[in-house]
Amino acid sequence: MLGRVNHIAIAVPILDEAAAIYRDTLGAKVSEPQTLAEHGVTVIFVELPNTKIELLEPLDEASPIAAFLERNPSGGIHHICYETPDIASAAEKLRASGARILGDGKPKIGAHGKPVLFLHPKDFNGTLIELEEV
Ligand code: CO
Repeated sequence: MLGRVNHIAIAVPILDEAAAIYRDTLGAKVSEPQTLAEHGVTVIFVELPNTKIELLEPLDEASPIAAFLERNPSGGIHHICYETPDIASAAEKLRASGARILGDGKPKIGAHGKPVLFLHPKDFNGTLIELEEV
């Protein structure tokens, strides 16, 4: 079911400052900001040779990232995204094994224009997992 790590997401309080740290202090290539209204976030991707880092800033107080930043004011690792070849069959297997899929359980279109799902962290050792069909 699991393929490559597509990205690791870090929730950040101030997106511009986080992007500057990766670009200027760490010398990485960073993308332009992209607003994803459906997910309640603005994202910047840090492009690395073997994967990406997704910097997430909440769009507003209703964003799921806003609640995370209340508990972790300086930011923190939010989720890991793994690639999967067939998200519908992955979702079916996960449901059959009792794992909880967040939201309505149906894939949504993620930051790369591909279907994604999020899995309940309590079922995966406290890690929020995103699956992206690639
Ligand atoms: Co993600």
